[in-house]
Amino acid sequence: MSLSPLQQLDAAHHLHPFTNHRDMHAAGTHIITEGSGVWLKDAEGRRLLDALAGLWAVNIGYGRREVVDAVAAQMSQLSYYPSFFNSTTEPAIRLAAKLAELAPARLKHAMFCNSGSEANETALKLIRGYWKLRGQPARTKIITREFAYHGVTLATTSMTGLPSCTVPFDLPLPGFVHVPGPNAWAANRESDPVAYGQWCVEETERVIQREGPETIGAIFAEPVQGAGGVIPPPAGYLRALRELARKYGILFVADEVITGFGRLGAWFASGLWDLDPDLMCLAKGLTSGYIPLGATMVSDEIAGVLINGGYLAHGFTYSGHPVACAAALASIGVIENEKLVERVRDDVGPYFRSKLAELATHRAVGQIRSEGLIGAIELIPREGKAALSPTTMLGIKASNLVRKEGVIVRGIRDLIAAAPPLTITREEIDILFAAIRTGLDRLWD
Ligand SMILES: Cc1ncc(COP(=O)(O)O)c(C=O)c1O
Repeated sequence: MSLSPLQQLDAAHHLHPFTNHRDMHAAGTHIITEGSGVWLKDAEGRRLLDALAGLWAVNIGYGRREVVDAVAAQMSQLSYYPSFFNSTTEPAIRLAAKLAELAPARLKHAMFCNSGSEANETALKLIRGYWKLRGQPARTKIITREFAYHGVTLATTSMTGLPSCTVPFDLPLPGFVHVPGPNAWAANRESDPVAYGQWCVEETERVIQREGPETIGAIFAEPVQGAGGVIPPPAGYLRALRELARKYGILFVADEVITGFGRLGAWFASGLWDLDPDLMCLAKGLTSGYIPLGATMVSDEIAGVLINGGYLAHGFTYSGHPVACAAALASIGVIENEKLVERVRDDVGPYFRSKLAELATHRAVGQIRSEGLIGAIELIPREGKAALSPTTMLGIKASNLVRKEGVIVRGIRDLIAAAPPLTITREEIDILFAAIRTGLDRLWD
């Protein structure tokens, strides 16, 4: 196959994130050129249904005029000014206030950044600063879970519980402690996920006691683990984990980079499961991916300590970038005006779940999981689950087969994951699942 001039340039000069470059260069990079609603067009003119919303981000769908116009207006009026040194801009103020209105009750302050990794990195630094100001500087350790994904900086990779992310870089750094994540399928405990979840909490408590509670600053948790394979929490698990943190005076951080802004049929998963987090990290759906933006929200108590603690020496050149904040306000406006949260909760979420359930009896399907508009299908080879090995990678094969049918899903290990824009219609959900079924029919060929 010959590469187009653009593909040749890409192969010559562009290092991609999370990519096997040799495979990509052999096949030719897939170049996307246009987007509208849930639909993309590629450089070959092919239409594709994007059932991953970019990277679990484009909650309002592609090409919304509301965001385009808000961004253009803000760029014309004031293209950039920082929020350092006693200054800021109107969109940053309005967005911080809007987030305080939408977020769980105790979270009334936002610190902005550019990505999910930076939102978690910011949380880590604010937590360290907070404990030092509180006179407990020994609380530097951080607990996260296996299968967690929290980002790619040195510290957030250290929090990530996926060997594929940590091993190539000899991470985690010291002080990052991993506990079991509630992935009953991976633990061969799928017949009793609730009991497995309970065991995970008990094991987490043993780890806290072993490490010394007075040395632990925070527990970070994605309410539904996303990039680790779409792992919704078993009943009772998350609340128990949250209470465990409270019991030992450890801060609880909800990483809502994927779960925020309606994906689960609630503004935030923290509200859905009454998690009352001390901090909450946001990105992706915050602007629906139109412009990079992240935010770390903190409780009144933490904000009070930091505000009274003197000079806060943290922040990025683009923290609270006015154009990004204008995009976020416009995207949130679309979610509100079109009642997309309620739409996921009452309409397309349950429909998505019912279509996913129809696949449960497919011969190549071992388990289905979903919550709101995010779901995963665990795949098994012809020989059964016991034949799965760490290198089977059925998910990549399946996602390629589904893409041939015109639908983008994500392959992870031996599963495929989907998280379409919240604007997806029932008809588009039908197209999505018809493509998955056809792809899976060929998985064992
Ligand atoms: C839960 C979660 N946290 C953090 C991140 C990192 O975000 P970013 O890629 O914007 O740095 C991701 C990205 O997928 C994520 O899913």
